Amino acid sequence: MPRRSVIIDTDPSPDDAVAFLMALASPEELDVLAITTVAGNVPLPLTSKNARKALELAKRTATPVYAGAAAPLVRKLITAEYVHGRTGFDGYDLPEPAMPLAEGFAPEVIVELAMQRSPGEVTLCCLAPLTNIALALSKEPRLASHLREIVIMGGAFSEGGNITPAAEFNIFVDPEAAARVLGCGAPITMIPLDCTHQALTAPARLDKLRACGTPVTEAFYHLLKFNKIFDETKYGWVGGPLHDATVIAYLLAPGLFAGREVHVSVELGSAQTLGMTVVDWWSVLGKPPNVQFLRSVNADGYFDLVIERLARL
Ligand code: BDR
Ligand code: CA
Repeated sequence: MPRRSVIIDTDPSPDDAVAFLMALASPEELDVLAITTVAGNVPLPLTSKNARKALELAKRTATPVYAGAAAPLVRKLITAEYVHGRTGFDGYDLPEPAMPLAEGFAPEVIVELAMQRSPGEVTLCCLAPLTNIALALSKEPRLASHLREIVIMGGAFSEGGNITPAAEFNIFVDPEAAARVLGCGAPITMIPLDCTHQALTAPARLDKLRACGTPVTEAFYHLLKFNKIFDETKYGWVGGPLHDATVIAYLLAPGLFAGREVHVSVELGSAQTLGMTVVDWWSVLGKPPNVQFLRSVNADGYFDLVIERLARL
């Protein structure tokens, strides 16, 4: 598999951190150029801090963290402390980070890093509201055709929404940004709730993670254990979805996923269904596909991969 250069745009919460640590634990397949943060699960100062806490825990401080947008393009920020706790990283105390943020505004850095490289080299991994990506696309209109791929955790189809009955959190928080990204013309893969709700942090999986016995696996055992409480209560499941690491798992092992090329648009006009991803699964509109939309994942294979990679750190 040819090595991919990736930029990871994120709003850490633990599932985001599992994703970028997995990427950093996979140097043969992935070259992580930067981590860029955005407001989402918690406000920007906390997402930027949590990213650095996770990097310090894993001793991967050579990877720069750039802060980006503190609010969506046109709307007020909505956060998710009710899931992830006040810090976004509740459940395990990690020290305040010593590593500084890198200098630069994330959307500008995304443009610079991607445009410096050959066309088709850089993949954007999007684990959060798409504000930084939309700003980057506005700043440099050639960015879309220069990218290899944009891989997004976001959206929902037959699974329904998690923040409203119709919408998934990352798309709902900044629907205008999501619409801009989905319309940009770059190759896009979307990993929606339909997939991530199949990938639950069941006790046997968390125990297997903890049994690796490293500081990283111990911390994420506790963080994910805290994290699943909200979802277990909400859905009546055993375990919570490990959403964002699917993006990195897809890059490492695309055969774990199945889906198809479809046209997807974002609802912007209706108060009731704002941020819904309208997936034309049966191509009733006959529009050209703009998204590879994944609907299922081999959950055991996914967790085996997550645990194997985290154990390397
Ligand atoms: C998404 O929302 C966030 O809380 C998770 O990190 C994930 O990116 C799932 O809807
Ligand atoms: Ca996220």
